[in-house]
Amino acid sequence: MLVFAHRGASGYAPENTLKAMELAMQLGAAAVELDVHRVEDELVVFHDRRLEGKSNGHGLIHQKTLAELATLSVKGEPIPTLWQVLELLGGRCIVNIELKGIGTAEPMVALYHKAISELGYRPEQLLMSSFDHPQLAAFKAAVPDARIAPLLGSLPLDGAAIARQMQAYSLHLDVSFISQQIVDDAHSTGVKVYVYTVDDADDIRALAAMGVDGVFANYPDKATAALTLPSQ
Ligand code: G3P
Ligand code: MG
Repeated sequence: MLVFAHRGASGYAPENTLKAMELAMQLGAAAVELDVHRVEDELVVFHDRRLEGKSNGHGLIHQKTLAELATLSVKGEPIPTLWQVLELLGGRCIVNIELKGIGTAEPMVALYHKAISELGYRPEQLLMSSFDHPQLAAFKAAVPDARIAPLLGSLPLDGAAIARQMQAYSLHLDVSFISQQIVDDAHSTGVKVYVYTVDDADDIRALAAMGVDGVFANYPDKATAALTLPSQ
């Protein structure tokens, strides 16, 4: 089972920062997940649409300039651009880039190609996901060979059909809505199932028993250990 360090190793370091990404690598994570918003023509790595709460800034992130963001921090760590994170990771792991804000597909297309040509990422190491399915479809239309994954925050009538229609590589589901049926339906159409956000060892083992292909965990080392160690 693939373990994604959710927002980097966010259980140990400020989420979505270079520190959280580097720590994920030190912990041996095979994959990381991060969230991006568009600021000017760049993509920046941050979870919320508003700055307050997770940073020392205020207001809507997409209304800021890159210069303004450069003055802010997340618990003392800078808000990185996606390019800075991709440079740091340097093709050492799978990167799931979650397109959060409006207008992210267009700059993502350019960054996808640049990451492959300049940083040596293999296409299969880059996985684009989003709750915004039209935006994800726009990305896929521009990069037909890219791996994409619709995120589902609730249970649709036929999640596998959504994945199939979008020619998705994987379906990303909230752990609250996971069922053997949706795992089997996805697998029957050749689509992998990755589940967020799971840190409980028993949950992780139960998902593995269902045949789930991967989980997003804030403590990737503990999630990996849960898969190898027997239940207490
Ligand atoms: O991509 C999985 C998960 O990160 C989706 O939800 O809110 O944590 O970005 P959220
Ligand atoms: Mg996310």
